[in-house]
Amino acid sequence: MPADTSPFTPGIPVPVEVFVGRKSQLEEILQYVERSKKGKQENIFLTGERGIGKSSLAKYIREISTIKDNYLPIHVLLGGVNSVEGAIFKIFDAILKESYKDKENRGEKIKEFFGKCIAEVGLFGVSVAFKPQQENLRDLKNNFAEFLMNVIERIPKTKSGLFIVLDDINGLAKTDEFANWYKSFVDHIATHYTKCPITILIIGLPEVRDALSSHQESLMRIFRVVNIEKLSNAEVRDFFLRAFETVHTRVDDDANDMLVIYSSGLPILMHEIGDSVFRKNTDTRIDRVDASSGIVSAANIIGEKYLNPKVYHAIRSERYTSILTKIGKNFSFRFRKREIEKTLNESEKRVINNFLRTMRDNGVIVQDPDGARGSYQFVNELYALYITMMSAEKTGSHLVK
Ligand SMILES: Nc1ncnc2c1ncn2[C@@H]1O[C@H](COP(=O)(O)OP(=O)(O)OP(=O)(O)O)[C@@H](O)[C@H]1O
Ligand SMILES: [Mg+2]
Repeated sequence: MPADTSPFTPGIPVPVEVFVGRKSQLEEILQYVERSKKGKQENIFLTGERGIGKSSLAKYIREISTIKDNYLPIHVLLGGVNSVEGAIFKIFDAILKESYKDKENRGEKIKEFFGKCIAEVGLFGVSVAFKPQQENLRDLKNNFAEFLMNVIERIPKTKSGLFIVLDDINGLAKTDEFANWYKSFVDHIATHYTKCPITILIIGLPEVRDALSSHQESLMRIFRVVNIEKLSNAEVRDFFLRAFETVHTRVDDDANDMLVIYSSGLPILMHEIGDSVFRKNTDTRIDRVDASSGIVSAANIIGEKYLNPKVYHAIRSERYTSILTKIGKNFSFRFRKREIEKTLNESEKRVINNFLRTMRDNGVIVQDPDGARGSYQFVNELYALYITMMSAEKTGSHLVK
């Protein structure tokens, strides 16, 4: 009997058991954390495209024993937070909750620090929440470094410092408030403390990095930038083997070849494809037929979830059916209209312009910055792949060949 719970987690940071790759980035980040242990405050900017695996890497780091056992690991999700005080609130709430998890620390020290700003919540007060007044937040913001140092005094002796992840600062980076505040915080530490065992890992899209430096020119100089990109084919292969193994299912080599090709190194696709294949499969072995029907079903999900509804409907409309079957085969991440036109008949040629315009107006493709007129590229590989997948679905056959 196949298991009924999918080991795949589309859109949710991956569980440690099936985390793959990122070895060099992991090593690099751990080195910085190690330096912070000796007293140097470290600032890391972890960046990469949407869905490439930034939060997953941060979660993985937080959970490995060198970090978990030696630091108080804090992971704060700041998506939707637009002010520094909003961020401060979440940071201290997370510090409170994380230190409360530790039995040894559940006593007076941490309560003393949070004073009246603490509320016991849940049945029998098993959990706590941070309940500050506005002036407390202002105070925390203005004296952030002092407060963090104060927290360090109160964490268990076995821990040598703080590891703080500020995840998804896309909203915060829109104004100059965060950039200026953060720069002052780092400067304050450098000028007032000789020992400050705090690593802060900030996560943002590549454009956030640009936004931050435009708000505060010298800010990006303080960050060690770590970039993550696509996974290698070997890592993706390993991922499918491990994920299916957790549900006692093996994957045929040739089926895995297909999963690897269509995942195209993108973690988000790996999980959508894996999840669809898992749901299509009825036994404890994934063969080519399972793989291809899962991939086709994942193509639909990917279109519906990630493509703007207008583009999704246009691509699926009757009008474009015949050209899609042809152009899919000739599409790659970059393509030329002229090359595609060669394969089209007269009526299809009339539609190609509208088709390309719809995709361009909706941010799916852009004019290739380095190419000649009529050269395009997809804004990300996921969309390119979707078009190829749509084409494969329409022609039906070439996925299983
Ligand atoms: N190293 C990995 N191994 C296996 N799966 C991964 C890995 N990294 C990410 N994933 C999976 O990929 C998807 C996207 O990951 P995640 O949410 O971490 O990306 P992100 O870069 O933080 O995205 P966003 O920019 O939207 O915040 C999730 O389904 C996650 O489970
Ligand atoms: Mg994320």
